[in-house]
Amino acid sequence: MTEIAKGLEGVLFTESKLTFINGSEGILTHLGIPIQDWAENSTFEELSLALLDAKLPTAAELAAFDTELKSNREVPTALLDVIRAMPRGVHPMQALRTAASYLGLLDPQSEDTGEAARRAISIRMIAQFSTIIAAISRAQEGQDIVAPRMDLNHAGNFLYMLTGKEPTPEQSRLFDIALVLHADHGMNASTFTAIATASTLSDMYSCVTSAIGALKGPLHGGANEAVMDMLDEVGTPDQAGGYITAKLDRKEKIMGVGHRVYKYFDPRSRVLRDYAEHVANKEGKSNYYQILETIEKIVVERMGAKGIYPNVDFYSGTVYSDLGIRKEYFTPIFALARISGWCASVIEYTRDNRLLRPDAVYSGAQGAQYVPLQDRQ
Ligand code: ACO
Repeated sequence: MTEIAKGLEGVLFTESKLTFINGSEGILTHLGIPIQDWAENSTFEELSLALLDAKLPTAAELAAFDTELKSNREVPTALLDVIRAMPRGVHPMQALRTAASYLGLLDPQSEDTGEAARRAISIRMIAQFSTIIAAISRAQEGQDIVAPRMDLNHAGNFLYMLTGKEPTPEQSRLFDIALVLHADHGMNASTFTAIATASTLSDMYSCVTSAIGALKGPLHGGANEAVMDMLDEVGTPDQAGGYITAKLDRKEKIMGVGHRVYKYFDPRSRVLRDYAEHVANKEGKSNYYQILETIEKIVVERMGAKGIYPNVDFYSGTVYSDLGIRKEYFTPIFALARISGWCASVIEYTRDNRLLRPDAVYSGAQGAQYVPLQDRQ
């Protein structure tokens, strides 16, 4: 019998120098450096450049990258018109998927698949995703689109464009850390999708548009929004225990827990938990944080032996909520960060490209006859 690796679990299809994960010990590193160190010491800008070039940048390289990102923050007016014309009430991930694809139509370099072009387009997309997602939110709410500011960092400028108000340094830093935590994560479903598209030698915009589609689903990036739906359904902390016990008894999936690779605590969830607690403690514990604490305790007690622990999506939503971000924007914010990982992985893979083309064990009929339509039952 041929073994099938359902969900491609454990299948190694390429080498990468970017991200290492030890799922049983809850370890995640980028370029060999633990994620906790990146979160504490670095910025989204620095990690993005480090991933694109697979090395720690010098101060001069980072300053030049920062200037390049800032000079690319504006998006074409034609794209803003498309964003304004989008139907109201669409999910922002649908809007982002369309906007990313449309951006490609407006970029004269889009069909260039050489490495230099892929890198230049990546930098533009990293810069412009922020403007696009904020514009989608403003347009969907019937508000004026806010132009980017060049005196704010990537995280601060996004919050400014989203809300129209300059964030506090603490809010900017918190959001920057969230972006750092989400920037890359090895061969996850959306990065794999981006690479699969790239492996046909397709263009960067097609790679990223397909990755957005993969990230959107509730088993991947969509889980952060689903966690908030769950918290709203639970309502109050005293109902959390009964709610989650009943769900586990019915063998239903709990959103924000479980992971294909981590069979222990996802280290990103530990960093986010600390920030969620910090934010909740500022104004007395928020309901959301208390509900999550109860759910985590029960899930770890009942499912820990099976390797089911909180993942990155478990606490991220409470942090975003505290920054005043609506839950439909949690997954677009994931894309705002993961764009760096998608682009860096595509560049790395296509340096030594081979078409991705797995196979299936055929389990259908053999030697069947074609029956004319009128003779079929
Ligand atoms: N809640 C309850 N039970 C779970 C959960 C969960 N969230 N996840 C897995 N299990 C159980 C399964 O029911 C299964 O039990 P069984 O052996 O009795 O049938 C066992 O654990 C293995 O589960 P699989 O679904 O086969 O594990 P897989 O590796 O395919 O799934 C996944 C990983 C999709 C992430 C899963 O854990 C899940 O659906 N989690 C909820 C969604 C989520 O939070 N996704 C975000 C992941 S992180 C990210 O993408 C950013």
